[in-house]
Amino acid sequence: MSILDLRNIYKTYGKGDNEVIAVDGISIKVDKGDIIAIMGPSGCGKSTLLNILGCIDTPSQGEYYIDDFQVDFKKLNQLSKIRNEKISFIFQNFALIKDLSVLENVMLPLKFRGIARKERVNKAIKYLNELDIFNLKNKSIRQLSGGQQQRVAIARALTQESEIILADEPTGALDQENSIKIMKILQELNQKHNKTILVVTHDNLVARFCNKTLKMKDGKWDSIK
Ligand SMILES: Nc1ncnc2c1ncn2[C@@H]1O[C@H](COP(=O)(O)OP(=O)(O)O)[C@@H](O)[C@H]1O
Ligand SMILES: [Mg+2]
Repeated sequence: MSILDLRNIYKTYGKGDNEVIAVDGISIKVDKGDIIAIMGPSGCGKSTLLNILGCIDTPSQGEYYIDDFQVDFKKLNQLSKIRNEKISFIFQNFALIKDLSVLENVMLPLKFRGIARKERVNKAIKYLNELDIFNLKNKSIRQLSGGQQQRVAIARALTQESEIILADEPTGALDQENSIKIMKILQELNQKHNKTILVVTHDNLVARFCNKTLKMKDGKWDSIK
């Protein structure tokens, strides 16, 4: 059984002359415990595909099964339940709340899950420490560099301890040393905790930490290595 099973997915934006086909008939089966890199040139549809996998965006056509359960993209409540319970998403643009502190940002998804404040604080602190940003916990997001914001976004995703982790260019704002640190954390979550991980990346270093690399081109799979 695949944990994620995407069948013949299309996503178009705009109409008529302005139509853009971002995802052009993609299928993918992901097994539990896979760690996969998705690569390809800018604009080839990687983020759109990952957003559909994360139930953040809806496909124009195609079917999606998570744990053999068909996702109904028309049911917004169902989508938010899936995101809440199963998927941690690391956004390309971090999507942090600028007016909240680092600690509040990292704790926020746990609040949506109804977890008590004490446990929220404990979990958040655990991952702030793992990412070496505990000392930033009371700072506002506005005070942070791009690399620091990236680590906060990763800490926020990991704090949820979801079965599935989807990351869109998680090392895009980091130097090599910090990129390796992040990938080691993801690799450990995969190997020790059997998390299923998909990482969109431009970085060959990131792909080296994954078991499989899938390449996209013009909204389709290019080749499988
Ligand atoms: N919200 C949107 N509205 C219109 N076009 C979009 C939107 N999001 C993405 N696109 C277009 O879809 C294509 C794929 O984009 P994207 O998935 O972001 O690619 P990648 O992540 O590989 O750089 C691009 O041509 C992009 O301009
Ligand atoms: Mg992208």
